[in-house]
Amino acid sequence: QETTDTVTVHGDRPAPKFDKRIFGQFAEHLGTGIYGGIWVGKNSRIPNVNGYRRDVLDALKAIRVPVIRWPGGCFADEYHWREGIGDPKSRKVKINTHWGGVTEDNAVGTHEFMNYSEMVGAEPYVSGNLGNAPPYEMAEWVEYMTSPTGSSLAKERAANGRKTPWKLPLFGLGNELWGCGGNMQPEYAANETRRYSTFVKMPAGQQVMKVASGANADDYNWTDVMMRDAGGHFDAIGVHYYTIPYDWGHKGSATGFDEDQWARTLAKTLKMDEYITKHAQRMDKHDPQKRVAMFVDEWGTWYDQEPGSHPGFLYQQNSLRDAMVASLNFDIFARHTDRLRGANIAQMVNVLQAMMLTDGNRMVKTPTYWVFDLYKDYQDGIVLPVEVQSRWYNKNEWTLKAVSASAVRGTDGAVHLGLTNVDPNRPTTVTVKLDGVTGAGVTGRILTAQAMDAHNTFDAPDTVKPAAFTGATLAAGTLTVTLPAKSIVMLDIK
Ligand code: AHR
Repeated sequence: QETTDTVTVHGDRPAPKFDKRIFGQFAEHLGTGIYGGIWVGKNSRIPNVNGYRRDVLDALKAIRVPVIRWPGGCFADEYHWREGIGDPKSRKVKINTHWGGVTEDNAVGTHEFMNYSEMVGAEPYVSGNLGNAPPYEMAEWVEYMTSPTGSSLAKERAANGRKTPWKLPLFGLGNELWGCGGNMQPEYAANETRRYSTFVKMPAGQQVMKVASGANADDYNWTDVMMRDAGGHFDAIGVHYYTIPYDWGHKGSATGFDEDQWARTLAKTLKMDEYITKHAQRMDKHDPQKRVAMFVDEWGTWYDQEPGSHPGFLYQQNSLRDAMVASLNFDIFARHTDRLRGANIAQMVNVLQAMMLTDGNRMVKTPTYWVFDLYKDYQDGIVLPVEVQSRWYNKNEWTLKAVSASAVRGTDGAVHLGLTNVDPNRPTTVTVKLDGVTGAGVTGRILTAQAMDAHNTFDAPDTVKPAAFTGATLAAGTLTVTLPAKSIVMLDIK
């Protein structure tokens, strides 16, 4: 049975822009995220460009990935950059103690990552080692990447194949210092952040945003103390929140789930709104001018690993439910652009809520990839606030609004309106009032599927894929949109 809901788009009340950095990705030395996922080596039979697999590179360019965070994650606070430069054959081979205990031969190091970012057209967001390396190691790494000419480090970089320095717009001062980054108390972490930040210096004329290691989920005290004690020494602070259907001991399966798991996952992902709101309140206390940005630099779903996959590789399938998690989070992010200026989904390829999955020379784009594609015109557009009056969808104790929405006036001049119907059983007709938005016509695309856990496999790669949407009509400043059950629709009004 069909229902009716209302959305009002306030084109007359523009909000801060939807920073393109909110579409950032996270690529850690974890499982097959780097090796196999983006890098196969020059001699591989898998089609590649200088060692980077071509299919993944092309797909990332197509969604205009703006930022890539690297090398971790937990890996970052054990990473020593010198082990990843120079002749690949002489690079140190180590054990990746965090992720699977496998060997790490450092084939991908600073040059390979920084060059890859340039090829993708993304800004590199490099996370420094604050956990088990001294400040001078961090300082030298930054100098190696950015110093123009003259210094020994600049000469070494040139000898290793890169004469001109790279641009380094974003640099992380450690990761999860409350956990894998050193198990620090917030007061100690704040002092360490001050100390390391002091030695991260850029050459004249170049600027870097220093990103402090942020809180986990609802640890507001972390944000409070970091802002209070070290807020003058960084330009952004992270927040990490993973959507887990059950708990860390038993997370739940990526596919083959029932409606309770659908509803609980989507209800839990909506906690992001509360977390951002409350961390922002702590930041406002110490920084009312909103100089310091919030970066949700790890977010996404985390399920039990796929049966048969390597323990510690965090390899999981990705279904229509993950697509909903992505669109709901984009709607949340749009409500907080006064403070939120960056985010990195975890992770880019083959790890957690990935854009793509690879197997040998095969690659599939996940439903999450398609949401990043549908929403890509939000990048750097002006947010137009929306009001949603929706009936409630509930299953067992999980209750959420059936309709979620956000809107942006894109840099192309068009208004892009994202609508999600989370109800897996009922379609709805949404009346969209367009206040202060003029447009002669509307076009759109839709992402939906028959099953809640519909997903793409190497044998059936196009099960979940956007299609043209014809269910919207525009008349006298009002849109009427018929949203099928469990669907995501992106409308372009121009
Ligand atoms: O994304 C996987 C891991 O999750 C990261 O390495 C860590 O920062 C977080 O706990």
